[in-house]
Amino acid sequence: MTHRFDVLVIGTGIAGLSYALKAARFGSVAIVTKKQRAESNTNYAQGGVAAVMSQVDSFSSHVRDTLGTGLGLSHQDAVETMIREGPDRLRELIDIGAQFTYTDGHLDLGREGGHSANRIVHARDFTGREIERALLHAVSTNPNIRIFEDHVALEIITEHHVRTSPAVRPTGPIHCWGAYVLHSLERRVDTFLARLVMLATGGLGQVYLHTTNPPIATGDGVAMACRAGAMIANMEFIQFHPTTLFNSGSPSFLISEAVRGFGGVLRAKDGDEFMHQYDPRKELAPRDIVAYAIDTELKKRGDEYVLLDLRHLPAAQVRDKFPHIYTTCLEKYKLDITREPIPVVPAAHYSCGGVMTDIDGRTNIAGLFASGEVSMTGVHGANRLASNSLLEALVFSDRAVRAGEAQLRENPRDVPAVGPWDDSGTLNSEEWILIEHNRREIQQIMWDYVGIIRSDLRLDRALRRMELIRDEVEDFYKRTKVTEGLIELRNLAQCALLIIRCARMRKESRGLHVTTDYRDRDDANFLRDTILS
Ligand code: FAD
Ligand code: SIN
Repeated sequence: MTHRFDVLVIGTGIAGLSYALKAARFGSVAIVTKKQRAESNTNYAQGGVAAVMSQVDSFSSHVRDTLGTGLGLSHQDAVETMIREGPDRLRELIDIGAQFTYTDGHLDLGREGGHSANRIVHARDFTGREIERALLHAVSTNPNIRIFEDHVALEIITEHHVRTSPAVRPTGPIHCWGAYVLHSLERRVDTFLARLVMLATGGLGQVYLHTTNPPIATGDGVAMACRAGAMIANMEFIQFHPTTLFNSGSPSFLISEAVRGFGGVLRAKDGDEFMHQYDPRKELAPRDIVAYAIDTELKKRGDEYVLLDLRHLPAAQVRDKFPHIYTTCLEKYKLDITREPIPVVPAAHYSCGGVMTDIDGRTNIAGLFASGEVSMTGVHGANRLASNSLLEALVFSDRAVRAGEAQLRENPRDVPAVGPWDDSGTLNSEEWILIEHNRREIQQIMWDYVGIIRSDLRLDRALRRMELIRDEVEDFYKRTKVTEGLIELRNLAQCALLIIRCARMRKESRGLHVTTDYRDRDDANFLRDTILS
C-alpha cells in the first residue's frame, strides 16, 4: 500500500509531535510510530525542562552551564539558539494545556546537576507524561494529522529506491522522499511518500544491558539515516544516568536527578559520603562526574550499589515533590524512600551523538530533517546538561518546521515514482531465539566493554565481536521477511558499531568518554566532533 502526505514524521515523542502540530499548518501530516502513540522516552521523563523562566536567572548563565558541561565540544551557536528560544517554546506548551507545577502562582523551578540556578520547569516528577499527554491531545484534534500506530519505519527512501529516469539520479546531494514502513500487526511493508520527512525516533539506550530507556529506544533513526548516507557524529558520548534503582528490572527505574537537587545524599554501602572526593559540587556535579564517581566506588569497594539517602529530608515534602518515584518504590519495590536509603547504580540513559543537523534541523540529505535525541545539533558536546534534552527537541523541531516550510515554498518538490518494498527471495522465519540471543549479546558486549570506563583493549575486542554479529544479522536479514524484532536487531548492531568506531577514534578522555589508555583531555588533537560519513 502506498500513502502520500506532504510531511512524514517518524516518532511520537516530544520532537515528532511538536513538529507535526506546526507542520500541519502548511500541509497534510502522517506520523508513524512503532508502538502505541504515547510509548516514547518522552513519556518517562521525570526531572523536567531546563529554561530561563525567572528574573533571577539569565540566558548567559544557562549558556555558560551548557557549554561548561559540554567540555569544549558544544557548538556555541546551537546552544545560544536553544536557550534564547526555549522560554517561548515552553510557553507554547503551556498554551496547549501542559500543566506544570506552580508555587505561589509562579512556575516551581527545580535544581539539577551542573545548573547554577533553579531553572527546571516540571510537572512534579512525571514531566514527560504530562508533556506527552498535552501534545497528543492537541495532535488528535488536528484534522491535518493522521497517526499510524504499530508502524515501524525500516528504511528511508532515497534515489536508491526511485524507479525512474536518470534525471532524478543524484549528481549532488542525496534526496529523501519518504520511508518504507512495516505495519507490524499485519506484517506488511507500506510505502509512505512525502515532500518532507522528520526523523524523530529518539534514543538508543537498548544497545546496553542496563538502561533507563523503554524498549522502543533501539536507535532505528540513526541506523536508517546512516544507511541512507547521512552524516553521524559523536556517538561515543553515551550518557549514563548515575542513579537508577538497583535490580529494578528492564528498563531500569530512574531516580531523578531532581532528587539530588532537593538534597539527596550519595553514600557508599557502609554509609560514607564520597562525592566530595570527586567534585566540589558533590551530588550536584554534572552527570559524567557523578556516574564516574559511583562506578569507581563500586569497583574499588566491590559493592553492587551505592545508596541515595533522603532520610534527613522532610518526608511529606519528598512524597509531594516525587509522588511517582515514592509510589513506584513503595508499591512495586517495597521500599519507603523516606525511611530507607535507595540502592542505586548507573545505567545508559541518553545518546549525545546522532544524525548531524544544522541549527534548523536539516541533515545532509535533502528533504530529511532530524530532531530530538536522534539528532546531533551540537548542543550537548561531550556531555548533556540535565533537562536540556526536552528543550532541545522543542526548539529544533520548531526551527525545522520553519525551514521546511520555506524550502517547500521555494521548491515544492514533486515526489518521483518509487517502487514498492522488494522482499523477493526472502522467507518467513520463526527463529525468535536467534534474534533474542543476538540482542542480548550486543547488550552484554556494550555494557562490559563500551561502558562508563573504556580502554583500547576493550574497544578492540568489542569491535571484533560486533562486526561478527553485524555480519550474521545482515545475512539473516537478507534471507528473511522483516519483522519488528529483526529490524531492531539490525539497527542495534549498527548503532553499537557506530558507538565503538567513534569511541576508538577519540584517543583522549573527555566528558562521557573515559578511557584508561588516554586519561587526559587533549585539546590539541580532539577539540572537535567525531564525524562518520
Ligand atoms: P522519544 O520521546 O523517545 O520518541 C521517539 C518516538 O519514535 C517514539 O514514539 C518511538 O516509538 C518512535 N520510533 C522509534 N523508532 C521508530 C521506528 N523505526 N518507526 C516508527 N517509530 C519509531 N530529558 C530531559 O530533558 N528532562 C528529563 O527530565 C528527562 N528525563 C528522562 C527520564 C527517562 C527515564 C528517560 C529515558 C529519558 C529522560 N530524558 C529527559 C531524556 C528525554 O526524555 C529524551 O531525550 C526525549 O524525550 C527524546 O524525545 P524524542 O522525541 O527525540 O524521542
Ligand atoms: C532526571 O530526571 O534525572 C532526568 C533528567 C534528564 O535526563 O535530563
